[in-house]
Amino acid sequence: MMSVKGAEREIDRTKDGEEDIYILAIESSCDETAAAVVENGRIVLSNIISSQIALHTLYGGVVPEIASRKHIEKINQVIESALKEAQMELEQMTAIAVTYGPGLVGALLVGVAEAKAIAYGAKKPLVGVHHIEGHIAANYIEHPDLEPPFVCLVVSGGHTHLVIVKDYGEFQVIGRTRDDAAGEAFDKVARAVGLGYPGGPKVDKTAREGDPKAIQFPRGKVEGSPYDFTFSGLKSCVLNHINHARMMGEEICIPDLVASFQAAVVDPLVSRAVMAAKEYGYTKLAMAGGVASNSSLRAEMAAACAREGITLYHPSPIYCTDNAAMIGVAGYHEYKKGVQSGWELNAIPHLKLGER
Ligand code: KG4
Ligand code: ZN
Repeated sequence: MMSVKGAEREIDRTKDGEEDIYILAIESSCDETAAAVVENGRIVLSNIISSQIALHTLYGGVVPEIASRKHIEKINQVIESALKEAQMELEQMTAIAVTYGPGLVGALLVGVAEAKAIAYGAKKPLVGVHHIEGHIAANYIEHPDLEPPFVCLVVSGGHTHLVIVKDYGEFQVIGRTRDDAAGEAFDKVARAVGLGYPGGPKVDKTAREGDPKAIQFPRGKVEGSPYDFTFSGLKSCVLNHINHARMMGEEICIPDLVASFQAAVVDPLVSRAVMAAKEYGYTKLAMAGGVASNSSLRAEMAAACAREGITLYHPSPIYCTDNAAMIGVAGYHEYKKGVQSGWELNAIPHLKLGER
């Protein structure tokens, strides 16, 4: 179990007339069991993550049944640690926020059932949060100046979305992947070249020693949908390249291969996000999700934004991957808007962004 906070911030507990809002947040949509306490939507008082990665690595990917079982084993401890580290009691919480979709149904159910039990027992409001809204909200933690509207590129293991964040909790999805998510493509290619799971960070590291121009892989385009993405053709090209080399008995330079693959993922992500900011007239662009920690994506996006006069925001790596602090931030904004979930709240594995 890890306690993780990004850049430490001074906690200002001075009162300005408004009552402070404390959210206890729970996240269990995939392979991390996480809980956090967030003050006033920006200050992370605790952020506890129990990662299952080592367990799933044995199988080369997340095994849903194992994920649910592990969540149920860990969730009470994780919540207890989050309150303890925040030096707060459950009674002091204003509301309980929980991810209720999208994600693995069995995994989500553990968090949802737990949050409902806690909220019911402690007579606290319950706020169901969309996982992607959480990823986007992670940007508010370390950037106190960031406020909507802005464009956000959400790139995770399950999602690749180009979103206009019109206001807190108000989204317009203008582009999405038609097939694989960016993170999924990283994981599949990593597996094909034997780098293991989770592939993203391993490809990122190995690619630093390779030449991104060594192999010209295609940059996927969706005809008639300028903001959509497609990565399955690229993935097939990489796999064909590997098979061809193996059949011919040629040696594959893995760093060159993964650097070239990474460039073919990063290029369309950068060009479409920047094009969206320009065409829709926004000067702020944010990134979110696990793939937003990719060093090449960060460098290329920073360079493109500097050229276009766009301010770029992204969370520290620890707030890019799944965590509960981001759910606490999103939960805060939903709560402020008056959103509360009923006791019938259920897990919704394919919940769409902007829907409740
Ligand atoms: O946001 P996240 O933790 O979980 C989901 O909601 O999916 O994202 C996990 C994904 C995985 O596919 C992982 O390989 C990828 O993010 N990832 C990266 C990097 N770090 C994590 N992909 C590329 N480069 C990285 N440095
Ligand atoms: Zn996620």
